[in-house]
Amino acid sequence: MNDVSAPSVKGLIDSTINVLEVRELSVHFAGRGRWRHRREVKAVDGVSFDIAQGEILALVGESGCGKSTIALSVMRLLVPTSGRIISGGEDLATLRGRALRRARRRIQMIFQDPFGSLNQRQSVYDTVVEPLIIHQLGATSQERRSMVMDALDLAHLRPPERLAEAYPHELSGGQRQRVAIASAMVMRPELVIADEPVSMLDVSARAGILRLMMDLRDRLGTSYLFITHDLAVAWMVADRIAVVYLGRIVEIGPATQIVDEPAHPYTRALLSVSSGEDIGADGAVTDVLPGETPSAANVPPGCRFHPRCPLFVQLGEPAICRSEDPALRIVLARRSSAYDRPPGVHQSACHFANEESS
Ligand SMILES: Nc1ncnc2c1ncn2[C@@H]1O[C@H](COP(=O)(O)OP(=O)(O)O)[C@@H](O)[C@H]1O
Ligand code: SF4
Ligand SMILES: [Mg+2]
Repeated sequence: MNDVSAPSVKGLIDSTINVLEVRELSVHFAGRGRWRHRREVKAVDGVSFDIAQGEILALVGESGCGKSTIALSVMRLLVPTSGRIISGGEDLATLRGRALRRARRRIQMIFQDPFGSLNQRQSVYDTVVEPLIIHQLGATSQERRSMVMDALDLAHLRPPERLAEAYPHELSGGQRQRVAIASAMVMRPELVIADEPVSMLDVSARAGILRLMMDLRDRLGTSYLFITHDLAVAWMVADRIAVVYLGRIVEIGPATQIVDEPAHPYTRALLSVSSGEDIGADGAVTDVLPGETPSAANVPPGCRFHPRCPLFVQLGEPAICRSEDPALRIVLARRSSAYDRPPGVHQSACHFANEESS
């Protein structure tokens, strides 16, 4: 992983065009158990963010914080409880039928498990051609074949003609994830949602997959919503990072600023355990923070992070942390100069985001 350089190519980002605008997205599930004891699970609880054309936004947070639920809602594989998901001038949250199918061509998803997500009985060719057939793209089978070969080549599955005939069991984990990437890219999507795409791969395969995704952004201007529990991975690939805690974005901003000048105490805890190697998402953060990760069925009042917040203790347990849910507010620059900053506003959802003592 060490040979993956920090994000550097910003030239392709067109910040005047958003491929995705998520506004106040909430996804609540009915809790389990007998009805009197049932608590609503607030898996996603008022999340807003934009992704510009050619931009890579990483969502980072512990397991269970709501990352996959956000991804599945944007894909409309889940129907959100409330909020808007604007793409191509349409609100995906309310689209149905043919309009939804058409909108789905623009957004493709890559899942975590390259072993489970491929049909073992399908050749690579059949897997990659399938989305073209479903969406009725490519006028002839020759045209579709050439689109598949291009996609395999883009995903560095070379030579494409030979790899097209292979079956999943003949491929390594890294190659399988390249097949998943090829079946996403064959649609030439505006936005790719990658949910923990490297966390099941061995370390040697990871760097190649991350580099491939960054290369596709550079060559094709593809935007990404990149989901990971590992802040170090997010820093390597993303232009901006959004840190998620219990269904809410608690800090968002340019990747370098989030890592160099984290403003939220939760981000600081994540940073102290992040190494770029495989991180046990749950265990590691629990090691540096008091208490258990609270459940989305029981979101603490006030600032949802207060039962675990080291700053809350350090500041003498201010009452406001228990009573008022902090909104995201702009973080004022501390160390780096204002004019060499990459685009993107740095915001933190902490009542004390701009206090010197924090
Ligand atoms: N279909 C569901 N029904 C009930 N609870 C769910 C469902 N899907 C996810 N959850 C809960 O929502 C929360 C967020 O889950 P998820 O989005 O998978 O988190 P992450 O991807 O960050 O690990 C968790 O508490 C999880 O148990
Ligand atoms: S608002 Fe209070 S509890 Fe929440 S992160 Fe800031 S200091 Fe900690
Ligand atoms: Mg997940």
